[in-house]
Amino acid sequence: MMTSEEIRQKFLKFFEKRGHTVIPSASLVPSEEIGAVTSSQTLFTTAGMQPLIPYLLGKPHPAGTRLVDAQKCVRTGDIDDVGDNRHLTFFEMLGNWSLGDYFKREAISWSFEFLTSKNEGLGLDPQRFYVTVFKGEQGIPRDNESIKIWQEIFAQHGLSNEVAADDEIVRNNVRIIPLGVNDNFWIAGATGPCGGDTEMFYDTRPGDGNIEGKFSDFVDSFRLIEVWNDVFMEFNKTVDGHYEKLSAKNVDTGMGLERTTAVVNGVSTVFETDCFVPILDGIRTHATIANEKSERIIADHMRAAVFMIADGITPSNTDRGYILRRILRRAIRHADSISMTRDLGTIAEIIQKKYGAAYPEIMGNDRGASIRKIIHEEEQKFRTTLKEGMKEYEKRKKDWVGVPNEPLPADSNKTLPISGRAVQKILGKTIFDLFQTYGFPIELTEELAKEEGAVIDREGFDQLVREHQNLSRTGADKKFKGGLGDTSEMSIKYHTATHLLNAALQQVLGPHVGQKGSNITPERLRFDFSNPEKLSDAQKKKVENLVNEWIAAALPVTVAEMPKAEAEKIAIHAFNEKYGDTVRVYSIGHTGNYISREFCGGPHVANTSQLGHFTILKEEAVSAGIRRIKAVLTA
Ligand code: ALA
Repeated sequence: MMTSEEIRQKFLKFFEKRGHTVIPSASLVPSEEIGAVTSSQTLFTTAGMQPLIPYLLGKPHPAGTRLVDAQKCVRTGDIDDVGDNRHLTFFEMLGNWSLGDYFKREAISWSFEFLTSKNEGLGLDPQRFYVTVFKGEQGIPRDNESIKIWQEIFAQHGLSNEVAADDEIVRNNVRIIPLGVNDNFWIAGATGPCGGDTEMFYDTRPGDGNIEGKFSDFVDSFRLIEVWNDVFMEFNKTVDGHYEKLSAKNVDTGMGLERTTAVVNGVSTVFETDCFVPILDGIRTHATIANEKSERIIADHMRAAVFMIADGITPSNTDRGYILRRILRRAIRHADSISMTRDLGTIAEIIQKKYGAAYPEIMGNDRGASIRKIIHEEEQKFRTTLKEGMKEYEKRKKDWVGVPNEPLPADSNKTLPISGRAVQKILGKTIFDLFQTYGFPIELTEELAKEEGAVIDREGFDQLVREHQNLSRTGADKKFKGGLGDTSEMSIKYHTATHLLNAALQQVLGPHVGQKGSNITPERLRFDFSNPEKLSDAQKKKVENLVNEWIAAALPVTVAEMPKAEAEKIAIHAFNEKYGDTVRVYSIGHTGNYISREFCGGPHVANTSQLGHFTILKEEAVSAGIRRIKAVLTA
């Protein structure tokens, strides 16, 4: 058994010995510099080359022209496939780089040497390798140089160096396969550094008989597994789709650590390697029901969550925070489905022990505990709404409609619907209510539906989200004063946060607190109110905690129009606003248990869970008896 730690170490050493500087993994959150130089910005670092884009484009790297690292990566495109044999959201990519230094000959020779060397490398069998090369397409020439290098290498090992014809037929004695841009041209997104590549595949089931037939068939059946990719970056693809020559020729290589560990140890899935076995064992120890798919999903998602949180991401309703929330909530649901008796922090701890030495950011000092705290808080937050939400989900099944022409969801557990019975669809309104009132991400409802062979009305849901926003906006623009001028997403959040703050101040300080002014920008809220004296630190803390509790409780925000006289009985006015005869009242909380009701033009978020974390920056005097609070929301 060769562990992933050994493979990582061997790789770094191998290239260090060949003049490469070992650089640490960059954060999973791409830096602003990367965002500035790429038009196709990704939420996460998705490949080893991504943090190096500025250097591949020509900027000198402080560590020199030969680099090597193990890079943390997150790819969420296949998140729904996690649980099968090979899809992962988080993985490590080993890579070596030449920035205008060596090119194809060294790159290919070292790759093969590392893969096959018994002393310095992985000791894989040279006879079991097949390689693809760029065959030339779209005005970019065939990579004859790489073909020649592979021919020499195979000849040195006493292997046939025949090249496959355009029919892409691979045989035991034809192991160099030229393919087109779809297979052997690599780019991180739509634009940026790119070039042809050569990929190395290993025959994982030589016992299955001779290799003979279409190359892609052997890949599709997982007999040939790609272990390494050497990209020869010579071009920069511009926004208008042109390939311009880079100032230097670079090499970018990528080897997935988990997959390589599986191949080296002759196991058929990454879940049988040391990268996962201790985590899966931990899950099984605390679960009362066995379910391989759920165990794998929990293991994968918890690895991703721990590393994401370590890089500063916290659960929220936008961007990276939303992906983290989805990942954690999915893990929680699967933990429930196998009746896990311990919380996810237990699993996080196993991951921290396993990876803490290589990645101190997940373990060092108080980091370990604070990461587990964030996981714990999200778990609690989700559980409070999940129970109620599931009841509502069951109740609303009566609203499902049959859609005769709809195909079953692609990877539903169900086979065909009972003959004559149409596929069932969950209406947008139901999805929206689950989202607004119970904080169910649409993906959760979709997954629940899929488990029962039903589909969701995503368009209907999107439409309702838009309507909800527009309703608020029209109100703000036309009918009522007191609405927001700026309806950016952040300003809307601050608007709702202002209502929460107002309610919290009344609870903590007393009903004498009246709003005296409010000002919102996308960066902060400012709130003026009447109070005879400065707030103590304890009072400030109490107010802050209360607002954060309400955010954590994922309370629905609802709006109703009513006659002013009626509204005055139930809601509070904002200071010196003029209202018409019909007014709009925004309520926060569940029916009969509102924590805030205010006359207001809106707009507001649909659910307080969208707000993130609330922090008071400053509390100061404006004039006698009037205080001012400045506060921010963070993801
Ligand atoms: N950048 C290349 C990949 O990710 C090596 O496959």
